[in-house]
Formats: sequence, C-alpha cells, structure tokens
Amino acid sequence: MTEMTPVTNAEAQQTAPKTRAMPDAQTVTAVTHWTDRLFSFRVTRPATLRFRSGEFVMIGLMQEDPKTGREKPLLRAYSIASPSWDDELEFYSIKVPDGPLTSRLQHIAVGDEIILRPKPVGTLVHDALLPGKRLWLFATGTGIAPFASLLRDPQTFEDYDEVILTHTCREVGELAYGRDLIDHIRSDEMLAELMGEGFHEKLRYYPTTTREESAKMGRITDLMRSGEAFADLGVEAPRSETDRAMICGNLAFNLELKAMLEEYGLEEGANSDPKHYVVEKAFLD
Ligand SMILES: Cc1cc2nc3c(=O)[nH]c(=O)nc-3n(C[C@H](O)[C@H](O)[C@H](O)COP(=O)(O)OP(=O)(O)OC[C@H]3O[C@@H](n4cnc5c(N)ncnc54)[C@H](O)[C@@H]3O)c2cc1C
Ligand SMILES: NC(=O)c1ccc[n+]([C@@H]2O[C@H](COP(=O)([O-])OP(=O)(O)OC[C@H]3O[C@@H](n4cnc5c(N)ncnc54)[C@H](OP(=O)(O)O)[C@@H]3O)[C@@H](O)[C@H]2O)c1
Repeated sequence: MTEMTPVTNAEAQQTAPKTRAMPDAQTVTAVTHWTDRLFSFRVTRPATLRFRSGEFVMIGLMQEDPKTGREKPLLRAYSIASPSWDDELEFYSIKVPDGPLTSRLQHIAVGDEIILRPKPVGTLVHDALLPGKRLWLFATGTGIAPFASLLRDPQTFEDYDEVILTHTCREVGELAYGRDLIDHIRSDEMLAELMGEGFHEKLRYYPTTTREESAKMGRITDLMRSGEAFADLGVEAPRSETDRAMICGNLAFNLELKAMLEEYGLEEGANSDPKHYVVEKAFLD
C-alpha cells in the first residue's frame, strides 16, 4: 500500500462513468483519493432525506444488463460519513480492483451523477444505546465511515463525558482519512461552535496499524486483551454501568470484539431495545 498525497478532482482519473435518465440521481461535488485503495467523495443531498448520524444507504451506478442490454442500477450499502446537519452527503470508499461497483465508482469526478436510494437504516445510532458516560467507537478499515458521521454530531458530545475512537488498519496510509477527520474536528472553529464548549477535551483518538510500523502497532483487540490500550488511554476496561460501544469492521473483528465486550458484561442493543453496545459490518466477507 502506498500512501498518496490526497488527490482532488482535477487529477482524478478521466474515465468517469456516464449515466442517462438515472433514478434517484445525485451530483458529485468533491472527490479525494487517500491511497490507491481508498477514496472519499461528496454528493448533493436530496431535500427530503432525513437520517440519523451512523446510518447507511444504498448507492450505486447504472450498469448494462448483459442479457437484455438495458441499463439497471447496481447498488451497494454505504455508511453516510457526513453528519445529519450537513447540506451534502459524504462517503468513504474502498476501491476493489475487480469489484462490480467500486472498479467504476473510483473513477467518479465532480459533476458526475450517482444513484442514492433515500432510505437510511442501521444500528450504529444513539437511539440503540442506553445513556452512559464513555462512548467507544471501534473501527477497522472503512468501518470508520459511520463514526465520521457520529463524531461530527453534537449529540455525541452532549450524551457522553468521553468519546474514544479506535481505528486499526494494515498500513499507515490507510489512517489518513481518519487523521484528517480528527484534525478537522479539533481545529475547525465553526464546528467547535456547533459542537458545544469543552467537546475537544472529550474526544480521544487511538489509531493503530498491524502491518506497517507506526506509533502504536497491533490489533485493538490484542491491545485491549493485554491491557496496553487501557494503560495508554488511562481508562479502565469497559463496564456496563458506564461504557457504551459501537463496532464497525470486518466480520472476524466484529465477532471477536463483540465476544470481548460480552465478557466485560456489556449486552448488545438494537433500535427497538437499546442496551450497551451495537455492531455493524463494514462490508460483506
Ligand atoms: C452495512 C454496510 C455498510 C457499508 N459501508 C461501506 C462504506 O461506507 N464504505 C465502503 O467502502 N464499503 C462499505 N460497504 C461495502 C460495500 O457495500 C461494497 O461491498 C463495496 O463498495 C465494494 O463493492 P463492489 O461491488 O466493488 O465489490 P463487492 O462485490 O461488494 O465486494 C467484493 C469484495 O471486496 C471486499 N470488500 C468490499 N467492501 C470492502 C470494504 N469496505 N473494505 C474492505 N474490503 C471490502 C470483500 O472481500 C468483498 O467480498 C458496506 C457494506 C455493508 C454491508
Ligand atoms: N490493506 C491492504 O493493503 C490490502 C491490499 C490488497 C488487498 N487487500 C484485501 O482487501 C480486503 C480488506 O482489507 P483491509 O485491509 O481493508 O481490511 P481487513 O482485512 O479487514 O483489515 C483491517 C484491519 O483489521 C485488522 N483485523 C482483521 N481481523 C481482525 C480481528 N479479528 N480482530 C482485530 N483486528 C482485526 C487487520 O489486522 P491484520 O493485519 O492483523 O489482519 C487490519 O489491521 C482483504 O480481503 C485483503 O486481502 C488489502
């Protein structure tokens, strides 16, 4: 994995998909390439779209049906990475070289259209958690996307005394989107006004890598098991009385962390039955 200087629209590849008479079309307003495997983009927001920070929608492009020759939508689930108050929608995406959608989506440029089905759903929402004091947001890879939304939502800092984002990636370059997000949250004056006084002190960021040297190496699960993560952060292991958690990563990560949280005494919640933690896949394995 090679880290790239984020590349903006003008430099993006020129083979943007062309679309005609697309249903639920939204226009791309910005594209940033973070590495050769990761990019983010912003699109216009449908005037009627309401969502809760942390939810996901189906997005995609038109593709030709090889049997009939007719165009039909090719859609995939995507977490909305922007907060619910934003005028536009942001997404953070993998580029799977032979992936049906992302092999094409990675070439979008400003002015192109994508399909966005305006039916947000998901479990990584405040409503699915009981009140608590500390919120843990555990992500691997593109699993940081829903947390990019929640971390820019004032409610996150109104509801909790402390918010800890952990992000584990293979390589340093894959942390860039998250680092940029945290820098922006910590330095943007307009955001500070919106988020309320003292929110900076509540936000903790714990990035780790597993296959390339960085300041903190190791899977977050191993770092928690050994106690190293808690010692670094100066906190105790999660407890059901005080701690709430959201998990978003690959399936093995989700299952491993879920089992660990259950061992700490936390129970899984849902929209209809709020409890101590919630979990969602960052992609289907
Ligand atoms: C609830 C939910 C939310 C999602 N949110 C996002 C998101 O915010 N950003 C995003 O990039 N993807 C997200 N995904 C995955 C997304 O739906 C697609 O799988 C992805 O865009 C690749 O599409 P594709 O058609 O190119 O390849 P697919 O045929 O969908 O996937 C091919 C293979 O690529 C790998 N893969 C797919 N997605 C990822 C990923 N995100 N990270 C690492 N490996 C992956 C898997 O091994 C998969 O089997 C989400 C999936 C789910 C279920
Ligand atoms: N990232 C790349 O450079 C790269 C390049 C080409 C292809 N791919 C392919 O793309 C797919 C997704 O790769 P990805 O790197 O985005 O996501 P990923 O494989 O889900 O890994 C993301 C991070 O999660 C960690 N992790 C995995 N399982 C875990 C568990 N059970 N508990 C705790 N942490 C866990 C990984 O650590 P470990 O490193 O210890 O597994 C890694 O740091 C894979 O199929 C991969 O083969 C990735």
